[in-house]
Amino acid sequence: MTRTRIAGTGRALPSRVVTNHDLERTVDTSDAWIRERTGIVERRVLEEGRSTSDLAAEASLKACQAAGIDPGEIDCVILGTVTPDMPMPACAVFVQQKIGALRAAAFDISAACAGFIYGLSIADSFIRTGQFKKVLVIGVEVLSRILNWQDRNTCVLFGDGAGAAVLLGEEGERGILSTHIFTDGSAWQELNIPAGGTRCPTTQHTVAEKMHYVRMNGREIYKLALKNITRASQIALEHNGFSAQQVDWVIAHQANLRIIEGVADRLTVPLSRFHLNIQKYGNTSSASIPIALDEAIELGKVQPGHLLLFCALGAGVSWGSALVRW
Ligand code: ACO
Repeated sequence: MTRTRIAGTGRALPSRVVTNHDLERTVDTSDAWIRERTGIVERRVLEEGRSTSDLAAEASLKACQAAGIDPGEIDCVILGTVTPDMPMPACAVFVQQKIGALRAAAFDISAACAGFIYGLSIADSFIRTGQFKKVLVIGVEVLSRILNWQDRNTCVLFGDGAGAAVLLGEEGERGILSTHIFTDGSAWQELNIPAGGTRCPTTQHTVAEKMHYVRMNGREIYKLALKNITRASQIALEHNGFSAQQVDWVIAHQANLRIIEGVADRLTVPLSRFHLNIQKYGNTSSASIPIALDEAIELGKVQPGHLLLFCALGAGVSWGSALVRW
């Protein structure tokens, strides 16, 4: 049976570190508050002059190297982001050029923090139906450019980064066992950027009102994340006939340590089986799962035969899960 195997991963993080103490100097917050409520200690911010596709290309080249393929062999580039280089064309087209994936179809998907899982799901379908053989899936965000750095409700939570994975079709038991993706558009108001689209085009007024920055109802998103990430994870396990105890590693979206602890508790998977890096990078949205996966592989945590559970929720709200036999 042909399965979609993750053959190589890569990540790219900006070198500039912004600590909670740095934020204490610019906004009414404290290191203690941020740590206690979120688990975040520091985050990365992209230097001026570089853009989303630069980070994505860096992670992608590493993923190709890890997979042992030349970028020219890639059939399709799927890029999840809410912070593309520009509204048009897709950010993926810049990555195509920067890495030399010249024969690949390239497009973006907008599923916020669930972007990487949505990308995996699409890539898995392409590969299993035989349409494409080698697919590059990227999660990348430069959220620092869409944050109001005066808004303590949002600016302390997010960071910049990129993660990428090369997916190949292979006979055998290893690879993606299932993906499940979900959306509840009735919750769109809980997390959005109000201006800059066709509903509310950019004007001097929208800029003055800071409507081109992220707005969030943190408490509602928290509840939705806890409920839906848990349920999507259970669905993945039930679908494949596994118990939570059989999961070796959970690679969960790193939004808030308390959300992850709540999911661990509800799933009855010990927190020690979650790879955590939120303390270093904050919430990097669609990039958080591929960054965490790449780190967990590098650290030798993820071994052949392990059962991996990916799960995430983001703006929309959109969420999902994937189960992978490594
Ligand atoms: N520093 C200090 N105080 C703050 C800060 C801050 N950075 N931010 C908010 N506060 C204040 C609030 O104003 C409030 O004060 P008040 O009681 O005087 O009104 C108080 O702290 C408590 O605020 P709450 O919103 O109740 O705090 P809560 O414990 O819910 O934590 C948080 C807020 C961290 C945003 C939490 O709700 C959360 O993590 N939600 C999920 C949001 C998220 O992860 N979004 C990312 C995108 S979606 C995703 O990735 C899942």
